[in-house]
Amino acid sequence: MAAKGGFLLSLLNYKTEKYVVAENRKIGILFRLYQLAVLGYIIGWVFVAKKGYQEKEETIQTSVFTKLKGVALTNDSEKGLHMWGAEDYVIPPNGEQVFFVVTNYIETPNQRLGFCPESNKVPDGKCTSDSDCEEGDVVTAGHGIKTGECINSTETCEIQAWCPVESGPRPEEPLLMASENFTVYIRNFIRFPKFEFSKSNVLETADPNYLKNCTYDSETHPYCPIFHLGNLVSWTGNDFQEMAAKGGSVGILIEWKCDLDKGYSECNPQYSFTRLDINTNSSATAGYNFRYAKYFKDQNGETYRTLFKVYGIRFDIMVNGQAGKFSIVPTLIAIGSGFALMGAGAFACDMILLYMMNTSSIYREGKFEVINFKKERSKSKDSKDEKDKTAHRDRRSKKSSVEKDISNSITREEESKAIPAESQSSVERRGPTIPRNTGQRYSALLSPQGPDQKHHVSFSPHL
Ligand SMILES: *[C@@H]1O[C@H](CO)[C@@H](O)[C@H](O)[C@H]1NC(C)=O
Repeated sequence: MAAKGGFLLSLLNYKTEKYVVAENRKIGILFRLYQLAVLGYIIGWVFVAKKGYQEKEETIQTSVFTKLKGVALTNDSEKGLHMWGAEDYVIPPNGEQVFFVVTNYIETPNQRLGFCPESNKVPDGKCTSDSDCEEGDVVTAGHGIKTGECINSTETCEIQAWCPVESGPRPEEPLLMASENFTVYIRNFIRFPKFEFSKSNVLETADPNYLKNCTYDSETHPYCPIFHLGNLVSWTGNDFQEMAAKGGSVGILIEWKCDLDKGYSECNPQYSFTRLDINTNSSATAGYNFRYAKYFKDQNGETYRTLFKVYGIRFDIMVNGQAGKFSIVPTLIAIGSGFALMGAGAFACDMILLYMMNTSSIYREGKFEVINFKKERSKSKDSKDEKDKTAHRDRRSKKSSVEKDISNSITREEESKAIPAESQSSVERRGPTIPRNTGQRYSALLSPQGPDQKHHVSFSPHL
């Protein structure tokens, strides 16, 4: 029971560490330098550069709408004038995050289902005799189904297909040259769900005409969301007309790096532009094209179509971002890791002092205290007695200070006679003890002598 009570009481004690000071300049300087380095790292890198005091949000919820403006007029001697509006040259036309702008094309008008020779560009369609064109076979990578006949004038198989088949080379100069001056209006809405923060890339301005007149420029109009296609391509380091002839792919990256401690207006997007179809040197992979057809019906109800093979630039809009806001938890973690690093330095310095210096043995002696259990046991008996008395003394000393005034006049002589005798004997009996405690011992011994002598406590030198 008593042991348990002692343990419980000891829980209420505050225990602190005792330090050993090693007067060694080199280690001292080394340790201070290390502390400075850690401090520099924590403040400079973790807090200032990496904003370690902030809670981070890497997921961004985003939506992108696009709208293109501009028209182009093409004039072909065979097919006549053609006016291209955004509804014609943007595929798909619904304003998506990924869109394609037609810049060049091969048009094959008035195709009807029928029989005609295969194009001589298709290897599987070539023939020297009818036996090369087995009836019912599909022309590999071709346009139709073989009828079993070889046409001598073209040296290709006759096929059942949409006729005539597409022919002719890609125009060297892009037919929609004017597409360089088209503009795209990109609206991007973002949200950081953790911080419930939403914003859009469209500048909130009081001027209603701003959006009608501006075009994006990283210097003069960094927050204007309208982009000139020619500029978009040239910022990737490519020539627009060259890219327009063969087609290509451009990435528009919108980056939101928001420090939400700084306020709403400081969270703004950064744009960057790259060409995504990198293999521009290899002619086989360069460019981007696909085909589509428009279908019509004539007066007799028969279907015919116009086939387009279109070349153009595909734009991919990518959005990413992260936001940070002050929070107590990451701050504490950053500070805590700093302290842990400091501790690692102390450990390293200890290792050097203990094992790598020629004065190591002296340091070791000072640092490690060896406990001799036999000695400690006999001592602990002593200290227990002392503890009891300390409590006793505290109580008494309070009392005595009150009584002192009253009984100050009483028997000063008596004290001086009686106590030295006692004190001597007590000292002899108990062997050498800490001087401070001797006074208490006297009081304990003297107390039975009567209440008016309690002030004898005051004999102990520190009272
Ligand atoms: C684009 O517009 C500019 C200025 O209006 C003009 O000088 C240029 O010729 C145009 N580019 C094309 C390819 O039409």
